[in-house]
Amino acid sequence: MEEFLVKINAGGGYNVHIGPGMISECGKIISSAAGQCRAAVVTDSNVEILYLRPVMDSLEAAGLDPISFVFPAGEGSKNLHILSEILESFADNGLTRSDIAVALGGGVTGDITGFAAGVYMRGIRYVQIPTTLLAAVDSSVGGKTAVDLSSGKNLAGVFLQPSAVICDTNTFNTLAPDVFSDGAAESIKYGILTSEHIFEVFERGEVRKSVSELVSECVSIKGRLVEEDEHDNSVRRLLNLGHTIGHAIENLSGYTFPHGHAVAIGMVMISRAGEKMGFTEIGTTDRIEKCLIRNGLPTSTDYDPEALYNAALSDKKRSGDNITIVVPKRIGRCELMTIKVSELFDIISLSAQR
Ligand code: GLY
Repeated sequence: MEEFLVKINAGGGYNVHIGPGMISECGKIISSAAGQCRAAVVTDSNVEILYLRPVMDSLEAAGLDPISFVFPAGEGSKNLHILSEILESFADNGLTRSDIAVALGGGVTGDITGFAAGVYMRGIRYVQIPTTLLAAVDSSVGGKTAVDLSSGKNLAGVFLQPSAVICDTNTFNTLAPDVFSDGAAESIKYGILTSEHIFEVFERGEVRKSVSELVSECVSIKGRLVEEDEHDNSVRRLLNLGHTIGHAIENLSGYTFPHGHAVAIGMVMISRAGEKMGFTEIGTTDRIEKCLIRNGLPTSTDYDPEALYNAALSDKKRSGDNITIVVPKRIGRCELMTIKVSELFDIISLSAQR
């Protein structure tokens, strides 16, 4: 079986296994990463139908005596109520501190299961099995876990690195095209951040030809940033390219606008502002825009600068009067820029003017 292996030296250190058909290996991989224990699989009602059975079979065959918990699919489930149901199910099934949670699904499942693992009996181990491109290249790696509170997204959570990540790239074949595009936006982000090669693959529209290799390249970039700054105080913030404006768009839409689509628009807008400020190489925005369109992504929004600015003020990336934004220098190189919150309005206004 074709397998790409990326080692991440954060937490206890862990491997990311990437390749087609990897789900059938999950029992072996988990028992070699975690030893003899029980596995508690958490998944949602969509992924249950597609992949729960093969995962349970593989865990069973490896002697991991699995149990499962299924919650209703959707962003609305990433809350304290479902978290509490997961924890109760772990306890009802007699899960002990030496056992392991397994997050099978997209970002919601990974975030809530990681958080449940972080607090159950003051912390047990967990494994991520991402089934979307977005979760594979972003949320499954790096140990950010969370649920939403009524006053905002991801406001409760812990940092806890997984014990392994198992990414079966065949699962992307069952994604709706716009869900795949959502992950493409976060992958293109890695291209703009540090790898012109990744960007060019998307520019040529060739992502499906070498998706496992691309995921491994994206995960390696994220891994290096996480290793240097596990708790998100410095270079890891580069991963927020396009996210200040992107989060504002998501917020204004009442979180009905998909994350990757919002980040795509945010990346175009911040690049355009960078060009107008003389910081970003001329032509960068045009290339980003064309690449995103080629991959089924939007590049502009109807929200006006004032609404975007007001929504951006509630961002977690804000610290007192300052906010750190990420601005491209050119394709393959971005920099962090800490600005006064009051300057953000001018930047958003510039970014909106074609
Ligand atoms: N999603 C950005 C990060 O993991 O830091």
